[in-house]
Amino acid sequence: MTQAPTREDKFSFGLWTVGWQANDMFGSATRGPLDPVEAVHRLSDLGAWGITFHDDDLIPFGSGDAERSRHLKRFQAALAETGLVVPMVTTNLFSHPVFKDGGLTSNDRDVRRYALRKVLRNLDLAAELGASTFVLWGGREGSETDAAKDVRAAMDRYREGIDFLAQYVIDQGYGLRLALEPKPNEPRGDILLPTVGHALAFISTLQNHEIVGVNPEVGHEQMAGLNIVHGIGQALWQGKLFHIDLNGQRGPRFDQDLVFGHGDVLSSFFLVDLLEHGGYDGPRHFDYKPLRTENMDGVWASAEANMASYLLFAERARAFRADPEVQAALADALVPELATPTLNEGETAADLLADRSAFEDFDPDKAAERGYGFVRLSQLALEHLTGAR
Ligand code: GCO
Ligand code: MN
Ligand code: MN
Repeated sequence: MTQAPTREDKFSFGLWTVGWQANDMFGSATRGPLDPVEAVHRLSDLGAWGITFHDDDLIPFGSGDAERSRHLKRFQAALAETGLVVPMVTTNLFSHPVFKDGGLTSNDRDVRRYALRKVLRNLDLAAELGASTFVLWGGREGSETDAAKDVRAAMDRYREGIDFLAQYVIDQGYGLRLALEPKPNEPRGDILLPTVGHALAFISTLQNHEIVGVNPEVGHEQMAGLNIVHGIGQALWQGKLFHIDLNGQRGPRFDQDLVFGHGDVLSSFFLVDLLEHGGYDGPRHFDYKPLRTENMDGVWASAEANMASYLLFAERARAFRADPEVQAALADALVPELATPTLNEGETAADLLADRSAFEDFDPDKAAERGYGFVRLSQLALEHLTGAR
């Protein structure tokens, strides 16, 4: 057993996760609707710290002003009663049929203008609720056929849209930062900004790049066959890890949205180790789907399981790092040496060329004889992870 989660752990959940009624491509809902007020109370009781939502999760699409404020009022009352916070808000630009060819990059200009208005309205709400991150997942931004989308024009429109929204945030003095969430496919055949790497490259072209970062999702990188730990490592290195969606996935297939840790266990361990020791201070946000087989008891058990998994990995990562054998193995593997710059301070190309030890007297065959001991390190991690140490 792990310790119970506390608010300090900064665990947050999407309202759409515990609220998912489990309708899929092949069958209808297996669970009833969940009242957002109940979600707030149950998550708070379980030790969560925050709740996040799409505009349409909380305020049904097409609600009039009176209905809108009624939904918001009861939600805010539940927040006040429990102390749960809203660290992140996001916009649904994918469910309504109007967005079938995307929101910010739809071929239809009127749809793009409507999408911007929908996001602006939601930015106001995010600021009002004190959120610090605003996620943009472009699930419908993409295509099924290359005949249908001019990718270069789509990237122009994407940049125009994100820069415009970021400028609005700046002009309004909202303390929000935008976080783009990559995903390779589903629901579109191919989604624009498919991976963390694509998103980081795109962000570097923005006028307002300072307030735009990424919200990587574990399963989305794994759907693309990529290593989430490397993706997060680079996002952290670039100061762009604004938020994260934790969940589980078993390799490249449909988006499984499993409980965190129920996919690639070893990768989850190293991911938590990185988040805990790599300077990430943001929400530990779960974006998963309680299995369709579960009733509401199972939903709350799955919410608990996400937090328990995280805490378990965090505890195991601490034990791994504290183990003197691990520290010796890390030193043997030269892991700390990678932090030493390759060149001496101020060293020029002429200096390096004059250094015979770097080339003329360097024996590559001899150097190649070294074993790095990475297998031993990996096994030590596995032993800590499984509780064998
Ligand atoms: C998905 C996405 C979404 C987003 C959400 C927040 O694959 O459906 O992960 O769940 O995270 O829309 O923007
Ligand atoms: Mn997902
Ligand atoms: Mn997500």
